[in-house]
Amino acid sequence: MRAENQSRLASMRDLILDRAEIQAGDRVLDVGTGQGLLGLGALERVGPQGHVVFSDISEALLDDCREAVAQVAAGGHSTFLAAAATDLSAIGTASIDVVVERAVLLFIEDRARALSEYHRVLRSGGRVSLGEPLNSWMSADRPGYLWGYDVTAAADLERKLHLADRAARAADDALLRGFDDRDLIAIARAAGFQRVETQTELALAPPPARDDLEVFLDTAPNPLAPTTRALMAQALSGTEIERFTDTLREALHHGRGERRHAMTFLRAWR
Ligand SMILES: C[S@@+](CC[C@H](N)C(=O)[O-])C[C@H]1O[C@@H](n2cnc3c(N)ncnc32)[C@H](O)[C@@H]1O
Repeated sequence: MRAENQSRLASMRDLILDRAEIQAGDRVLDVGTGQGLLGLGALERVGPQGHVVFSDISEALLDDCREAVAQVAAGGHSTFLAAAATDLSAIGTASIDVVVERAVLLFIEDRARALSEYHRVLRSGGRVSLGEPLNSWMSADRPGYLWGYDVTAAADLERKLHLADRAARAADDALLRGFDDRDLIAIARAAGFQRVETQTELALAPPPARDDLEVFLDTAPNPLAPTTRALMAQALSGTEIERFTDTLREALHHGRGERRHAMTFLRAWR
């Protein structure tokens, strides 16, 4: 599964960078760089005259990027900037050729402000290329399914877990699910971009078969969300937990269900 994730990440990186049409000598800004997935790729493309700004709100992640960049033999110059996507005031107006970004807007409440900042820092003719997961479709509520696994045989118990989960994270729910590709186009347009394109990938597939029920129960979709084990302890009785885990074990073992993948890739020209 790790290999599958790595190759999916690599193909998203390549698509976002290809769509950015990075030229040798470009000055590229990677917003919310994380461990530098896009920035490191951009560094190879800008050549020795180019420059990549790695920016993130996390200093710890910027340290990771510094280390990773130090290990790259060739490529352009780099700088590291602790900044929120909604406040890039450390970067001059019209000073950037290309803004790249992946999986950051979904964490931001004021997405319009972020897009306005991307627009401000770009020079005329500069472009932004980004990719965002569309949780509005991918994580839509589907009664009887748990992370894509089919537990319809215990659908009554899945509903109890679902309600407990919603109660635990009502606030981040609205934020993480709050947009689709058309919303992003409208936000980019309002930020001043006149030419905007999206390419959206929607896919369905059975989830992977797995026999590590205990690991699954201790996993949460993000660090702030409760694990399935915690939800079961909170919402189900002892016999219900047994019935639910039996159903879930079966679904995991056979890889029974339907997993959704949804990403949109937007690019826009200043
Ligand atoms: C899912 S990671 C994506 C990392 C990287 N872009 C990638 O493609 O691997 C989200 C990143 O956004 C950063 N982030 C979250 N909120 C942010 C904000 N308001 N401004 C800038 N970065 C933010 C996080 O620190 C994290 O590194």
